[in-house]
Amino acid sequence: MLNFELYNATNYVFGKGQTAKVSELIPKNSKVLLAYGGGSIFKNGVYDQVKTALSGFEVVEFGGIESNPRYETLMKAVAIIREQNINFILAVGGGSVIDGVKFLSAAVKFEGNPMDILHKRLLIKDVSQVIPFGTVLTLPATGSEMNSGAVITINETHEKLAFGGSALFPQFSICDPMVITSLPKRQIQNGIVDAYTHVLEQYLTYPHDAILQDRIAEGILQTLVEIGPGVADNPADYKLASNYMWSCTMALNGLIQKGVPTDWATHMIGHELTALYEIDHARTLAIIGPNLYKVLFETKKEKLAQYGERIFQVTGNSIEEKAEKAIEQTVAFFHKMGMQTTLSEYTPDFAKTADFIVNRFEERGWKALGEKQNITTEKVREIVEMSY
Ligand code: NZQ
Ligand code: ZN
Repeated sequence: MLNFELYNATNYVFGKGQTAKVSELIPKNSKVLLAYGGGSIFKNGVYDQVKTALSGFEVVEFGGIESNPRYETLMKAVAIIREQNINFILAVGGGSVIDGVKFLSAAVKFEGNPMDILHKRLLIKDVSQVIPFGTVLTLPATGSEMNSGAVITINETHEKLAFGGSALFPQFSICDPMVITSLPKRQIQNGIVDAYTHVLEQYLTYPHDAILQDRIAEGILQTLVEIGPGVADNPADYKLASNYMWSCTMALNGLIQKGVPTDWATHMIGHELTALYEIDHARTLAIIGPNLYKVLFETKKEKLAQYGERIFQVTGNSIEEKAEKAIEQTVAFFHKMGMQTTLSEYTPDFAKTADFIVNRFEERGWKALGEKQNITTEKVREIVEMSY
């Protein structure tokens, strides 16, 4: 097993009726920015619950944080926080609102151009230089509620860029599975596939000796396969909803990544598809992931075979046969979860996508991705072209 440090600063508060605890979790006398998205919280009662819990606090509201949150929108909130001396932010929403708030947290006291946080992929480690924040999660998917990373889109340049650092863990996250009853089916499907791919990015590499990490990762994958179709059809089923929410958090709260190699190239390529075509994040992963496993077959085949045997009970006479079946089963699961798995199903305009992505990666100096640093830009081209 590789050496590791496991640090997680988030107080994770899970279950029915927990939103009321916001009042105890925010430091007394805070001036709070309540940040939210396009308005779903007004329709499903979450806003009312949060407002009730915030009675007694001075609150300023900032809405309109988009899916794939935009730098330009967030800079308006940065100005409000500075002008009004706000000293706590409460994110109420899905991954986009939470990621947006992580950017606010980092940008308000940042000396210099806040765009550098994104372009230079700065690591934000100094807690005295951030505005503390908590979250009320409304969409299980990204794990952002219990990790310190975020992804922000710059409208002007169509760049979708990740950043983070240990100072950017939420102080608390309220995770009440009841909130998912108002989610459109498409978003639940996205959540399952995003979390599933988070596990695969940290699992589908090469054989190593971190036995427990593999077994935890497989437990999350098995749970998502077991509950995914059901929770998308019946989000009011609390057993399904609660396991869905916890699985999504566990998939990307840092735990399964410790002591093991990780890949993340599916995400890096997928972010470009969202930046170019506004395809939902999870859907980009369903397009790219299976083709990446095919192009990187030699590197990943042992782990693919293990995954196929343990998650889908595939059989075969060779590692290769089992690995191929594992990829087929993955695509079948994505289809079952309502995903389309080719780019042409989302846009007629795909012909130059590989050129565009390869150019961008070359400009950024991303010449070697993946757990073995063997995903060259030529391999990226192959993966993207295979995805058309
Ligand atoms: O904006 P509102 O009106 O709230 O509506 C949202 C949005 O339209 C809606 N929604 C959320 N909760 C709802 C609800 N509708 C009804 N009832 C509810 N309870 O769902 C839509 C999608 O929300 P969004 O937050 O965009 O989705 P998601 O949570 O999937 O987040 C996606 C973003 O997170 C990033 C993605 O790249 C993308 O920008 N990611 C963040 C990660 C992280 N921080 O660790 C990791 C991920 O890999 C991912 O990259
Ligand atoms: Zn993701």
